[in-house]
Amino acid sequence: MDRREAMLRELNLYPLWVQRHAPELTPSVEAAVAQEPPAALPSPDVQHDAGNASVSGDAAPRLEAEVEDLFVAEPHGDSSEDSLREFQLKIAGGPLADVAWTELGLKVRDCELCALCAGCTQTVFGVGDEQADWLFVGEAPGEDEDASGEPFVGQAGRLLDNMLRAISIKRGDNVYIANVIKCRPEQDRHPHVGEIAACLPYLKRQIALIQPKLIVALGKTAASALLDTDATIATLRGSVHDYNGTPLIVTYHPAYLLRSPMEKAKAWQDLRLAVATLQKK
Ligand code: URA
Repeated sequence: MDRREAMLRELNLYPLWVQRHAPELTPSVEAAVAQEPPAALPSPDVQHDAGNASVSGDAAPRLEAEVEDLFVAEPHGDSSEDSLREFQLKIAGGPLADVAWTELGLKVRDCELCALCAGCTQTVFGVGDEQADWLFVGEAPGEDEDASGEPFVGQAGRLLDNMLRAISIKRGDNVYIANVIKCRPEQDRHPHVGEIAACLPYLKRQIALIQPKLIVALGKTAASALLDTDATIATLRGSVHDYNGTPLIVTYHPAYLLRSPMEKAKAWQDLRLAVATLQKK
């Protein structure tokens, strides 16, 4: 099995693409996909679909051709110097404007702005490189994260790590991972609007401190909070949005992908779009 096939199998994409799409390749697309794909190291704990069968050798280029089509079709968000400056001014005037990392961590730890703090073991602030190019934003800690204090360490976290690996990113290295909500909601319910409103300034301050080159919003809560919209993931994914001057890509939450593995193909498209967007920066 070559590296490309291993990568596609890792994300359970390999047979799905062949079954659902078989576009003709144009010469220009063929040239584009001849490039080396991002490296992916198969993880021993990845769950492969039992039904994965081997397929003809041209399946992977077809997948990549579709992804490349997506890239050329999509408009880009406004990441001009002006809007970045506007964002920085907005943050500078906010309640956490001058708060540095250490103090921000303490404020989150001691926060009692909503009732979630009463039910969680500890806050889950975020983890990673504080000057990362990449920022991945999830919803809220679950049971494993509540116990460990680190975001995305459970089953969904393992899938997120595999997704990162597929685009040659490793947790802790040029990537920061955070959630909109820092305390685990009881029974892992979705957070309420008031809880999001209370917690969002912490994430916004984290973003201002990190100044990532690209944000990936994992799921509806992160996308809605950061883009201030009610639109569905299906509507939001596939294009480059703008978060105050920083490009933002929306994709499915890893927990959703665990429940709906057919959607991993779309998540892979989103990740490729993210890579292409960051490469243009
Ligand atoms: N789901 C999230 O959104 N965040 C986590 O940290 C874990 C699961």
